[in-house]
This record gives sequence, structure tokens and C-alpha cells, in this order.
Amino acid sequence: MAARLLKALVGLLMTVESSASVTIRKTGRGPTGYEVDFRYVNTTAKRVLIGGGIQPFTDQFHTTGTEYRFNGRYDPHDYQPGDFYVSNPSPQLPAEPAYKWPYEMKRSDDEDGLWTYTAPLPSGIYSFAYLVNCNYAPNCSIDTGHLVIDPDLPPFMNVPGDQVASSFQVPFDAEFQASSELNTNFDYALDAPDPERHRGEVKIVNYTSPGSIHPAPDVHDFAIYLPADYRRPRCKKREYPLLYLSHGAGGNGADWENLGRMSHIMDNLIRLGHIPPTVVVTPSFYNLDASLQDGRRFIYGNKSHSVPVPAAQRVRENFEKHLFPWVEEHYDVCRNASCRAFAGLSMGGLLTYEMFVNATDYFDYYGMFSPATLGPFIDAAAVAAKPSLKEKGIMVAYGLYDFVFPMARNLQTALDAVGIRYITRVTPFGSHYWNTWQDELWWFGRKVLWKELPFTVRTGRQNRS
Ligand SMILES: *[C@@H]1O[C@H](CO)[C@@H](O)[C@H](O)[C@H]1NC(C)=O
Ligand SMILES: *[C@@H]1O[C@H](CO)[C@@H](O)[C@H](O)[C@H]1NC(C)=O
Ligand SMILES: *[C@@H]1O[C@H](CO)[C@@H](O)[C@H](O)[C@H]1NC(C)=O
Ligand SMILES: *[C@@H]1O[C@H](CO)[C@@H](O)[C@H](O)[C@H]1NC(C)=O
Ligand SMILES: *[C@@H]1O[C@H](CO)[C@@H](O)[C@H](O)[C@H]1NC(C)=O
Ligand SMILES: *[C@@H]1O[C@H](CO)[C@@H](O)[C@H](O)[C@H]1NC(C)=O
Repeated sequence: MAARLLKALVGLLMTVESSASVTIRKTGRGPTGYEVDFRYVNTTAKRVLIGGGIQPFTDQFHTTGTEYRFNGRYDPHDYQPGDFYVSNPSPQLPAEPAYKWPYEMKRSDDEDGLWTYTAPLPSGIYSFAYLVNCNYAPNCSIDTGHLVIDPDLPPFMNVPGDQVASSFQVPFDAEFQASSELNTNFDYALDAPDPERHRGEVKIVNYTSPGSIHPAPDVHDFAIYLPADYRRPRCKKREYPLLYLSHGAGGNGADWENLGRMSHIMDNLIRLGHIPPTVVVTPSFYNLDASLQDGRRFIYGNKSHSVPVPAAQRVRENFEKHLFPWVEEHYDVCRNASCRAFAGLSMGGLLTYEMFVNATDYFDYYGMFSPATLGPFIDAAAVAAKPSLKEKGIMVAYGLYDFVFPMARNLQTALDAVGIRYITRVTPFGSHYWNTWQDELWWFGRKVLWKELPFTVRTGRQNRS
């Protein structure tokens, strides 16, 4: 009796203590030099897949930006140097029998309800959630219990439901991952060494925003990164350069940190001397005002509930009225355009374009990352009326396999036509996904932020003397 009770108790403790875990191990062997172990306990599950943001791999010789159906899709066990993942618009289509979802967990024979999966993974960030008794990822919902977030690795978010995937980062191992075809080293997004000296703080902040419908009436939120330097005691108040960094359609202000490790990228940009200590604000453009999205509330990851993307012009007006003044009032940030930047990905890239043409004098630097810019674009008359458009520090960045590639090219053509200079980054392994956006932020920091204006063909190049 006592033994049975003890066993039950131990079983209970084990379930409580190890309901889920993700372990990243350096192995010293191929194919990648690292393995990741997933453990998840669910006694009622019949099948568990690892879904969310973990994609199959491909290589540049078997990938196009268009015909995803015919792209190579490799299981991580089949990894070869130069491979990378692209986001797949049709994950695990039932109509494609040849395509096997690679991340299937195995039920343990020894331990009740324990599911495990081990994969060799290369350098990069991975986001995931467990798909329980649900075979088609796009249909697995958090509401019905078919999508379970790892309880031991909770996402960076404000309120539950704001994010639907946890994330982890695998380091680069040159012995197994170095490739003469492509550099796929993402270690600039790993934790910086010596956290006491280099680690900034990242947190969510609620601010007053009349009309907001999330997370509370008239309260909206953003995430903020404060560099390590910000907390150092000093006699004289310092005003830090300020970067606003927007998410895209279907996202929110926690995305850049949860899915893109923005704070680590900033720590490393600052630590390596590419930029001075800089504050980053990642705002949310949904739920600012129900009227901007047909009266509906945007709930992250609620796939049965589609909400229109609020018009960029209205988002700009709202930010100008409520967000920008609030940030200036509450943080030691700079007070002029020369040390302010706005950047964003996808629909956030379109918002950046809106800021560029209509909040021109508030920012001197603009980063249009994988911009969903459809046009119409500014013409010569608009530039003649506002000559400062030609004096800004601009980057247009996009992935080689990014579905917005044509839109970003059209934007560049339009800027060329009116004589506006910009810096370009085409991410060579890039689809419309987080590894691309990390790469774009990294190069934005290295080549654009706080560089001398106006840009010339020497901007971002090393000075040789
Ligand atoms: C996914 O959901 C859609 C819409 O509810 C449904 O029509 C479709 O059959 C589902 N697909 C699978 C494979 O379950
Ligand atoms: C186990 O799976 C079910 C769905 O079958 C889900 O409702 C439940 O929340 C899961 N339990 C845990 C501990 O993840
Ligand atoms: C923001 O407000 C919401 C709603 O009141 C609350 O649940 C959440 O904890 C707050 N977040 C922070 C960081 O204060
Ligand atoms: C998701 O959206 C559907 C359709 O609008 C709605 O019925 C459901 O309540 C939503 N789920 C949550 C958690 O709000
Ligand atoms: C802008 O603000 C920064 C930081 O306070 C300051 O160093 C710089 O001189 C200011 N520039 C102008 C043009 O006012
Ligand atoms: C924004 O700028 C564009 C280009 O100059 C102009 O056509 C448009 O009228 C502006 N919108 C507003 C609301 O000022």
C-alpha cells in the first residue's frame, strides 16, 4: 500500500517536474554538431507532432521563391552544410503524400505518457508548440487543446494568448556547419558573453492609448529593450538613440523578442561596437482601435478569426498621438530625428514606408524589412515638395526566396526613379521568415543605424586610411 502510494507520488512529482523540456546538446559529431531533445508528458495523447515554427530544410539548389511544391524538403537528420529552412506556405499538405512531417514524437515504452523526439539542428532560432492529436498544423488550435505550449519554456509575452510558440536557439558549429556555399551562422542572436556587462533588459510595458481594446480598454502594450548601459549609474542623464521595430501581419509587439531574439541581436551589435547603446521599442499595431479592424479584436493565433490589418496611415496617426509621446516621457531617449529610427517587417515594412513619407521629419533612419509595399509610391512632385525625403538613411531588405521579393524590388525601382538612395540587403537563405528578419536587423545595425547622412556609396564600408 505504502509502496503504491510512494510510486504514485513519485509519478506525480515527475509529471509535475518534467511536464516538458527542451535540451540543446553539443555532440561533437554530424550532421550538425548539436542535438536537441524534446520531452513532453501527456498521458491522454495518441499522437504528438512538433509544430509551430520548425520547418523542413532545403538548399539553394533545390529552392525557388515560387513553386514550393517542388522544393527540396529535408529531414534534419539529412542535414548538410549550406542547408537552411524556409517557411513553407503549405506545411504538411494532406494532398502531398510524399511529404512526411519530420517532427513526430515517439511514445516511451517505459514511462507512462512520455513523448520524446531528438533532432540534429543547425544554427538558428526555432519556435515550436506541441500538436496533440492533430495532424494538420494550420488547424491545430490552442482553444481546443490541440496546440499545447511548452509549460517549462513559456513564450515572451504580455498576457496568455499573445504568443502561441516557445523558442530556443541552437549555436553554430564550424566543424559541421561551415559551408563554402552559404554562411548560415546565426550566433549573433545567441546570448552575449558576460551578461553583467553586455546583457540589456527586455520587458513588456502597458501604456495609455485611448481606444485600445487589448490588453485592456484604453491600455495598449509594447516591448522595450534597454541596453546594459541604461542601468549604469551616472551623474548626467544620457539620451539614448531610439529604434522602433514593428512586427508584421498576424503578429504583435512580443514577436521580435519571442521569435527573433531582438534583445540578443542588440546586445551583440552594441558589444561588438557596431552601434552605440540603443533603446528599441517593438509596438503592436493591432487592437489600437476596434474601428481600424472592422470592429473585431485580434487574437494571436486564432486562425478561425481573421482580422484585417489596420491601415498604415491610421496606425501612424495613432502612434504619433499616443505611443511616441509616451515613450519620450517615460524613458531617457533622444529628442530629435537624428537619433530616431523606424523599421518593420512585412506589413511593418509597409508601415515603415508610411512613416517615411508622412512622418518624415520625426525619424532619420528607416528599415523596410521584407516590405509588403504595393504602391503607389511617391513621385517626383512629392519629393520636390519635401526634399528631406532624400536625406534619410534607408535600408530595403528582403530574402532571395521571399514572396515579397517583387514588391521590395518595385519599391526600390520607385525610389530610384525619384533619386532616393538606400542600402540593400538580399538575405541569401531568406524566405518570409524569422531567420531572414534576424539577418535584416543585424545588417541594419551594422550598415545603417546612426551612420552619417546623407548616404553615399561609401556608407557602411570600412574607412581605409
Ligand atoms: C482544416 O480546417 C478546414 C476549415 O475548418 C477544413 O475545411 C479542413 O478539412 C481541415 N483540414 C484537415 C486536414 O483537417
Ligand atoms: C494533453 O492532450 C490533450 C488533448 O488530447 C490536451 O487537452 C491537454 O491539455 C494535454 N495535457 C498536457 C499536460 O499537455
Ligand atoms: C498589462 O495589462 C494587462 C491587463 O490589465 C495585464 O494582464 C498585464 O499583466 C499587464 N502587463 C504588464 C507588463 O504590466
Ligand atoms: C477565435 O475566433 C472564433 C471565430 O471568430 C471565435 O468563435 C473564438 O471564440 C475565438 N477564440 C478565442 C480564444 O477568442
Ligand atoms: C539630438 O539628440 C542627441 C542626444 O540627445 C544629441 O547628441 C544631438 O546633438 C541632438 N542633435 C540635434 C540636431 O539636436
Ligand atoms: C502621405 O504622403 C504621401 C506622399 O507624399 C501623400 O500623397 C499623402 O497625401 C500623405 N498622406 C497624408 C495623410 O498626409
